[in-house]
Amino acid sequence: MSSGNTPAHPATASASSADGADTATDQGPSWPVFRRLLLDYVVPQWRVALVATATMLAYAASEAAFVALIRPLLDDGLVAQDAAVIRFYAALLVGILILQGITFFISQYLTGLVGREMIKRLRLTAHDRLLALPQAAFDHLSTGQTISRLTYEAEQTANASTKAAITIIRDGVTAVLVLGYMVYLSPRLMLITGLVLPVIAGLVATINHRFRQLSRRVHHAVGSVGTVAEETVHAHPEIKLFGQADHERRRFERLNERSRRQSMKFAATRFASVPLIRLTVGIALAITLNLVTLDAVVEALTVGTISSFIGAMLLLNRPLKGLVKVNADLQKGLTAARRIFEIIDMPAERDDGMRTLARAQGHIALDGVRFSYDGEREVLHGIDLEVAAGETVALTGPSGSGKSTLVHLLPRFYEATAGQIRLDGVPITEYRLADLRRQFAPVSQDTTLFNTTVAENIAYGAPEGASRAAIERAAEVAYARGFIEQLPHGLDTEIGEDGALLSGGQRQRIAIARAVIKDAPVLILDEATASLDTESERYIHAAFERLMAGRTAFVIAHRLSTVEGAGQILFLEDGRIVERGTHAELLARNGRYAGLYRMQLAPQGGRSG
Ligand SMILES: Nc1ncnc2c1ncn2[C@@H]1O[C@H](COP(=O)(O)OP(=O)(O)OP(=O)(O)O)[C@@H](O)[C@H]1O
Ligand SMILES: [Mg+2]
Repeated sequence: MSSGNTPAHPATASASSADGADTATDQGPSWPVFRRLLLDYVVPQWRVALVATATMLAYAASEAAFVALIRPLLDDGLVAQDAAVIRFYAALLVGILILQGITFFISQYLTGLVGREMIKRLRLTAHDRLLALPQAAFDHLSTGQTISRLTYEAEQTANASTKAAITIIRDGVTAVLVLGYMVYLSPRLMLITGLVLPVIAGLVATINHRFRQLSRRVHHAVGSVGTVAEETVHAHPEIKLFGQADHERRRFERLNERSRRQSMKFAATRFASVPLIRLTVGIALAITLNLVTLDAVVEALTVGTISSFIGAMLLLNRPLKGLVKVNADLQKGLTAARRIFEIIDMPAERDDGMRTLARAQGHIALDGVRFSYDGEREVLHGIDLEVAAGETVALTGPSGSGKSTLVHLLPRFYEATAGQIRLDGVPITEYRLADLRRQFAPVSQDTTLFNTTVAENIAYGAPEGASRAAIERAAEVAYARGFIEQLPHGLDTEIGEDGALLSGGQRQRIAIARAVIKDAPVLILDEATASLDTESERYIHAAFERLMAGRTAFVIAHRLSTVEGAGQILFLEDGRIVERGTHAELLARNGRYAGLYRMQLAPQGGRSG
């Protein structure tokens, strides 16, 4: 009864995150996303955010003060040869630098704090939503994408948006203050600079744009390398048996080469851009100096003014660069945020039943139950069924006839599209969801085991925890004691990702032990389609028998020998119950069930899918 998605692979996450970054384009307006991020994830931390902003402003002021210091230091100190003035400004300089250091540290630290908190909350909210999603939602969620959204894209959201905040507040104010000071210094010089500066800005923007483009391609190329590597690890039995090693090698080589080429292009642009930008700035400076020699300008200039001015120009470089690409940063963050919000906004499972239920008797009735997964193709066409408390009902029938679907409706993994299901006479929708689900214990075709010890996997059946003795007893009842004792550390043996270190029959017996611990009044046994050896099968059969005593049980069996003793046997075909009765009745009727039974008894007998 797990979602049937493939287990998580780290490589899947990184690969699809790379793809995610690549395909990320702006869909829809940014403002609502921005607003939501601000209101839900920053406003709750307003105190920290406020202090961070204040220190950013102080930092910006210190930058401007630094430039402003140059003129009096030169004109009043050095040119005028006044030692006291020089000493005063030297001390002031150190003071400003200390202030700058402190405000830099605090503002960066606090924005980091806001960002990390934002990541934590985004992840928690998204994860909470995953826990609350209906089963149907998981049929459409890609594991890799979901992991990528909770990990990589949560980071991306916070990193890009805090970076944008720093740029807008700190660099924006720095730029305004420094530009203002330049106008104050010499409006004419500023006018000249104003003509030259846009040319530099344009050039820098062009180079940056190219840079971003390449960086995206590099990202994508690295992502594809990851995807192929992941498949090599994941599909190695197929690669070996189908002799596809050469094919995989060529595929990997091609992508690997593409990744190398893209990275080198990226490096070339990057290293060419540095001298190019410097040259442009140099030329601009030369032009400015030439213009300065014009009589009208030069008259008003002192050494201090010119030095201060040039200092200001150099200082402006960094904040302006940041401001040019702040929108790109912001968009990157908002795109990532949008993708997490997509998960957070998925509708949760309906849980509006009010009725509480400690322990059900286990009487179950289905009345004209119909179901469709997609709202188009109906998979169950009106199922009527009554199961007394403690009775065992067996479901048989060809593959795809709707057996698993039917039992999935009982704990409301999916909601019936028509008809009614009642537990102890009450429609199951009227119970609180948690109470309803407490009544069922699954031993399904695809029980998920966790990457931890045998004991913890068994104890998973009891949400409130289970004692060591209880775990041992459950293992005993499930006939799992024997093989568990053979494991290197017994109950404390780690069993690997999804129980990879166990055989099919062993896994199933752990699942049975889990159900024993849960001690629910209704059992759902979805027998594995994969065949087990007779020995394991006998153990599992015996464990089922023990488990079923005194409980209502739904048994989906492919081997009819398992179900002969059931109180009633249903033969499903194409979403309908086509035969029902006891084993003897169905044999006497000589219909579909009898045919299948005889076929399985025959020595070369096959088995329904
Ligand atoms: N999650 C799903 N989304 C859409 N369709 C589904 C889903 N699960 C099953 N189906 C479809 O519903 C039908 C019934 O499937 P179901 O799993 O109930 O069959 P089954 O009787 O349990 O088969 P098997 O014996 O092979 O386990 C099939 O046609 C199947 O394709
Ligand atoms: Mg099934």
